[in-house]
Amino acid sequence: MPVKARANHARPAPAGRIAYVDGRYLPHASASVHIEDRGLQFADSVYEVCAILQGRLMDEAGHLDRLERSVTALDMPLPMARRSLQAVMREMLRRNRTKNGLLYLQVTRGAHRRDHPIPAHARSSLIMTARPVNMAAVEKRRAEGIAIVTMPDIRWGRCDIKTTGLLANVMAKTEARRAGAFEAWLVDHQGIVTEGASTNAWIVTGEGVLVTRNLSTHILAGVTRLGVLNALAAEGFNAIEERPFSLEEAYRAREAFVTSASGGVIPVVSIDARPVGDGRPGPVTRRVHALYSEHARAAAQV
Ligand code: PDD
Repeated sequence: MPVKARANHARPAPAGRIAYVDGRYLPHASASVHIEDRGLQFADSVYEVCAILQGRLMDEAGHLDRLERSVTALDMPLPMARRSLQAVMREMLRRNRTKNGLLYLQVTRGAHRRDHPIPAHARSSLIMTARPVNMAAVEKRRAEGIAIVTMPDIRWGRCDIKTTGLLANVMAKTEARRAGAFEAWLVDHQGIVTEGASTNAWIVTGEGVLVTRNLSTHILAGVTRLGVLNALAAEGFNAIEERPFSLEEAYRAREAFVTSASGGVIPVVSIDARPVGDGRPGPVTRRVHALYSEHARAAAQV
């Protein structure tokens, strides 16, 4: 009989929460994957984080589209068809009774004897968790804005693939929090802002033009970023430029904000301790948030 290893978690998993692992719905505390899972050993795995608002999955199609792009880029089979994946996602919401929170979904290459080359016939694994989010804390950040600090972007050359290889992001975020900031903006060797540690970066210029970096292998194609662009286009707002912007330009910006599934649109009120504009969340950011939430909610299916 295998001896059950004692979990060594810093915090016990909340009672009542259910996780999904390869076809099984399990108590969160006892859900696990194999020690030789390639996700654990090589970060040979991809993931998505999808917001749940009022019991609905936000931007679901965008997240599934990106998941498909990530697995395709790594030649990793999806463990099930998209429709089945959607059924499991809904079942997770139902079993966890999540009204407002985050659905986390990860596809790993699966367990194999440790060896670098990707196994020819790997059977990928699927795991999912759902957890509630303190909406009051998110809304406080939205009302007050957040501080950003910047640091060198030391990540690899395929930041467009949403892999769990996030150590550079984790280190940047940790350093930001130690500095009293909520997020880090990563800056390349030419002084250009790539994106946040877990968000896309936006500025509003003195002329009122919205700027966010164009898609490439240097940034993640944020689903919220796309949602914002689509919402603005639908409203006929066309003062938008998708292009690189420098840290110097960001310092001079009238407004700045970040986008992500976990927070939606969050104003940035300082960058490296310099106030952005008048140091308070601005009207353009507020309008972008309102338009995005309206469009995303309308599009969300039960
Ligand atoms: N982060 N850039 C990076 C590096 C990210 O990790 C994320 C998402 C984003 C925003 O993408 P989206 O709008 O699709 O959430 C941009 C998620 C939320 C996370 O890792 O928790």
